Amino acid sequence: MENQLMEKIVALCKRRGFIYPGSEIYGGLTGTWDYGPLGVLLKKNIKDLWWKEMVQLRSDVVGVDAAIMMNPTVWEKSGHLEAFTDPLVECKICHQRFRADKKEEVKAHEKTHKEKPQWTSPQKFNLLVKAYLGIIEGQQDEIFLRGEITQGAFVNFENVVSSTRVKIPFGIAQIGKAFRNEITPGNFTFRSREFEQMELEFFIRPQDAEGDKWFEYWRQERMKWYQALGIKKENLRFRKHEDKERAHYARFAEDIEYNSPFGWSEFEGIHHRGDWDLSRHNLSYVDDDGKKFTPWVIETSGGVDRSLLFFLIDAYAEEGDRKVLKLNPKLAPYKVAVFPLLANKEGLVAEARKIYEVLKPWMMVAWDARGNIGKRYFAQDEAGTPFCVTVDFQSLEDGTVTVRDRDSAKQERVKIVTLLEYFQDKLQ
Ligand code: GAP
Repeated sequence: MENQLMEKIVALCKRRGFIYPGSEIYGGLTGTWDYGPLGVLLKKNIKDLWWKEMVQLRSDVVGVDAAIMMNPTVWEKSGHLEAFTDPLVECKICHQRFRADKKEEVKAHEKTHKEKPQWTSPQKFNLLVKAYLGIIEGQQDEIFLRGEITQGAFVNFENVVSSTRVKIPFGIAQIGKAFRNEITPGNFTFRSREFEQMELEFFIRPQDAEGDKWFEYWRQERMKWYQALGIKKENLRFRKHEDKERAHYARFAEDIEYNSPFGWSEFEGIHHRGDWDLSRHNLSYVDDDGKKFTPWVIETSGGVDRSLLFFLIDAYAEEGDRKVLKLNPKLAPYKVAVFPLLANKEGLVAEARKIYEVLKPWMMVAWDARGNIGKRYFAQDEAGTPFCVTVDFQSLEDGTVTVRDRDSAKQERVKIVTLLEYFQDKLQ
């Protein structure tokens, strides 16, 4: 059943234009995915809503957008060159490689061989992706694509303090791509080699009580955000990191996990990074009274791709033979779809087109005049469009249209002149 659900989600994503395999026409590239017309809208909505919550609505957080390619010294200082590793084991029979700490994946592989499995002993495998920069062959600099977006906030700490009015406690927010040479990419977009993160680095005074207070504050804030956007409470939980799994930079850490078809899985980490990063980069802060100190950092680090995947899974429902994505309207790629009842009746098409043009400057509106009306509803349900407007013959007589609600599939007649206000009200 669970595998079936993942298969259905993957198929729906391809069919409706949410997510395609990366470089598909050339056989793909493991661990990469391309977002299609609907996926890109959903992704943008997630990022915009995150930015609104974490930056726009707050007065203690500012944003940055740092370069993906950084001076390699950053990764030496941050500890990633030495410690950003996963334990790799190789199957001696078929030479496939796995993460030794992912016991279920190792066990599942063992079942694929008749012979008694034999493994190499675990070796540290660094996840940073290398790149080569420069124009002279043989004299290029080896650099790393960023393994976490985080370091871009730290290396700009002094720039932000000196160019804005922020005072501790304050945060630096950032959204952007990160790259990891994952040993076993898998579970659709869940473990990819190129993905996007949305992160807050929140700088506080270095005292234990302060750290606990802000850690608790941010873990609650982040959980509330996912719930407010519709992820079912019973599918969310916190999980504390055990000592042996904690990242090299973390004093302590907790994940927000989702009850996915492939088990409870992390999609946001809340990390108490202490003074690890700023002291490694030799950065400090001077208080109003002239006292210099190294701030501590509480980090919230969410995955855009993983949260998108879990928003989709959580919203997916089958009702009779209709499949519907009951996405929160704020997340839905298209807010409204407009149809003429019949594509070959000029009067209906012209009126529907007028409505489409009126709504379009205000929200993402889809147009569909293909096939029969039932098929169009079916397609919009799968796309998660909250409302469908149909212009029929009555519309030409009394200036009303039918508005169909995605979740209840019920229809009501609404005056055309009030439509914009009607949707703005519903979509707030
Ligand atoms: N700066 C801290 C940091 O990067 P992390 O727990 O390694 O922490 C944070 O990553 C989030 O980034 C994860 O919760 C997940 O949502 C996302 N993420 C990490 N690795 C990923 C991968 N291989 N594919 C997709 N998303 C990933």
